[in-house]
Amino acid sequence: ASAVRRRAARLTGTVAPVTGRVLRSVARPVRKVDRSVRRLMYDMTETMLEAPGQGLAAPQIGVPLRVFTYHVDEIGVGHVINPVLELSADTEVDIEGCLSIPGLTFDVERPISAKLKGQDAEGGAIEIEASELLARVFQHEVDHLDGVLYLQRLTKELRKEAMSQIRQAEWFGMPDTFTAGITSSEPKPKDSSDSVTPKAAELA
Ligand code: NI
Repeated sequence: ASAVRRRAARLTGTVAPVTGRVLRSVARPVRKVDRSVRRLMYDMTETMLEAPGQGLAAPQIGVPLRVFTYHVDEIGVGHVINPVLELSADTEVDIEGCLSIPGLTFDVERPISAKLKGQDAEGGAIEIEASELLARVFQHEVDHLDGVLYLQRLTKELRKEAMSQIRQAEWFGMPDTFTAGITSSEPKPKDSSDSVTPKAAELA
């Protein structure tokens, strides 16, 4: 499955950390799986493997289309176009990070298993039963396609902690990051958890 043309594909972008607006927008369905979509998938796979990451959604490289790639040990590399998820009722908590929010990881509660339907690179229908890590990656990436960051899935306490860490990150407030619009000249919150500004809280 890892027959990826490494180096051969040109990158369409980087992932660390990019494109605030597209990261928070709902991505469009792919209408026709053509050469440009396949090219996008090769680019995304390359970017993901270089990062390295276990998943990458097109909005993370600035492309507002419903496409993601994944790379999970024991399972390999894959990609899905126009994914739809069916989630289990039972959940588990595990650690998660995001290439678009570098350097941070937090525990997130999510359904343990997921049935994914979508299309492959030829436009054919695919269906994958996933559990544990793969199911988590699927959910994280489909969230990206819906403009949802995993920060929004955190408990209230962890979200406060995340916002505090984000404000201390070296990329905080840089143009084209998902924090664009929050200026770095805003005072950093004091230890009091009430001092998070409304703009920052809106992110999480
Ligand atoms: Ni992510």
